[in-house]
Amino acid sequence: MCGIVGYIGHRQASPLLVEGLSKLEYRGYDSAGVAIIDNDKIQIEKCKGRLLNLEEKLEEKPINGVVGIGHTRWATHGEPSDINSHPHFNKDKTISVVHNGIIENYLYLKEWLTSLGYNFLTETDTEVIAHLVDYYYKGDIVKAVSQAVEKLEGSYALGVVSSNEPDKLVSIRKDSPLIVGIGEGENFIASDIPAILAQTRKVYLLEDKELVVLTRDNVEIMTLEGMKVEKEVFHVTWDAEAAEKGGYEHFMIKEIHEQPKAIKDTMTSRIIPDSDEIKLDDIKLTSDDIKNIDKIFIVACGTAYHAGIVGKYVIEKLARIPVEVDIASEFRYRDPIINERTLMIVVSQSGETADTLAALREAKKSGARVIAVTNVVGSSAAREADDIFYTWAGPEIAVASTKAYTTQLISMYIIGLYLARLNGNMSVEEYRTIRDEMIQLPEKVEKLLEEKEELQKFADRNHMHKDMFYLGRGLDNAVALEGALKLKEISYIHAEAYAAGELKHGPIALIDDGIPVIALATQGELFEKMVSNIKEVVTRGAKVIAFALEGNTDIEKVAEQVVYLPKTISLLTPILSVVPLQLLSYYVAVTRGCDVDKPRNLAKSVTVE
Ligand code: F6R
Repeated sequence: MCGIVGYIGHRQASPLLVEGLSKLEYRGYDSAGVAIIDNDKIQIEKCKGRLLNLEEKLEEKPINGVVGIGHTRWATHGEPSDINSHPHFNKDKTISVVHNGIIENYLYLKEWLTSLGYNFLTETDTEVIAHLVDYYYKGDIVKAVSQAVEKLEGSYALGVVSSNEPDKLVSIRKDSPLIVGIGEGENFIASDIPAILAQTRKVYLLEDKELVVLTRDNVEIMTLEGMKVEKEVFHVTWDAEAAEKGGYEHFMIKEIHEQPKAIKDTMTSRIIPDSDEIKLDDIKLTSDDIKNIDKIFIVACGTAYHAGIVGKYVIEKLARIPVEVDIASEFRYRDPIINERTLMIVVSQSGETADTLAALREAKKSGARVIAVTNVVGSSAAREADDIFYTWAGPEIAVASTKAYTTQLISMYIIGLYLARLNGNMSVEEYRTIRDEMIQLPEKVEKLLEEKEELQKFADRNHMHKDMFYLGRGLDNAVALEGALKLKEISYIHAEAYAAGELKHGPIALIDDGIPVIALATQGELFEKMVSNIKEVVTRGAKVIAFALEGNTDIEKVAEQVVYLPKTISLLTPILSVVPLQLLSYYVAVTRGCDVDKPRNLAKSVTVE
């Protein structure tokens, strides 16, 4: 995710940049750095680890100067290290760049620039921007930045300074956030409002492809073609804490709303519109390797385990390879059958969960090949696995996982498709159908996020209940498990998920007058069966809120409340159906007055067995 800041004015830039970065650490904390123009030379200090490390370095060796840019990193391309930290620079250090986003065509640009004699020092995608600006620089940094970004595909918010033009700070965004803070004889840029709130409450909110040129006394916003853009000043009225949450009440709800972007980022450069190729840079499995695999284990804990259950359905359906899903703490002690023909996929947001790492080591010892699906570049899981799939969800602060889960689901689909294409189990036509549907998912999730009234209504009516039940069949059952976990975690209501068809073999005894039942009915071929299961619980007094795809209005005959999801193919519905379940848990927990972001007894990363 990353955070960027920039300053131009009459005060020392260094402490202002560091203070700004401290308010953006929620966007990433793998490394931090600043570039400051000191007597017509760019001085850079950057290092791996938390901002504190950078502060210590700047205390030891201060940098003077009144113009600068800063960065706090959540690694995507290239592991967290001093060298991969931002800011990046051109060959003679006359241009320096900070970047938040992902440059999808960086490999192509890197090859092209290398062929022109540019020398790359880092593994990052950002370094291509510094060299590109250098390539176009003919004495006008604004022009050079405009030309450079025309070459970029992907997302970016950039801060650029040049020692040749020390009285300018240039910035631009596309699909990554960027604001301008307006001061007196000084101006700022930042990824987010908290970074500048101590200095000014007057900001411009930039739109995509708006380029801004800051001087001490002026802010000029223009299009890439150089047309001036008039903008209203936005006066921030939030306090600092609310600003850090982007105006949301909690990190959890903010992160729920970040899902369309997280899903898009995770698909970006892997599933490409109009291309039949799936690009997985960090997975090196060949079709021969895949022919040798006779069993896949997906091993994880908690929410990541629930993503694994969806993964089993998806991979078995697409690639026709048998998959077992295991809870990591159980897997280790049950003497599983693993050998050189086993592929293990560990799923872990943090990449540091002790049980998951132990399972990974166990599998490697027995000769299995291991893919790590993780959100943290350079985490233990990423370092120890043979292949890596990074979910690009950005840092997740709320303890209850939301955006990490949906990106883990995306990883399961992409790996499933990848295996199916490699082992010849899927035709190009089948691939195209799923690819085209996947590309529409971020927009559909966005639409779902706008419709929360029914869920708030549910929370108002039901938050005092002690028990709730979740029902589903097939993939809906897997999502029901995650829905129930979310509710338990943050509202402390006892919640159980059952395979709807299993109900009459015991659990239906728990259904009593007025008990809330959350029923998922998104699976086309199982819809009628699910309607019957809903009838069974309604007859026994349950009050049902059902989730079905648009158009399946028969559900209204049995359920008290219905939430409709945008249509998609059955295989992909988990990405959509989990979103209202997250919102439902959130509203119930808020209505009960629970500490949503830090639920009792839970920690974000469980590094003990
Ligand atoms: C629940 C939750 C946990 C984690 C689990 C695994 O909302 O976040 O269940 O999913 O502790 O953590 P990672 O994915 O970091 O291995």
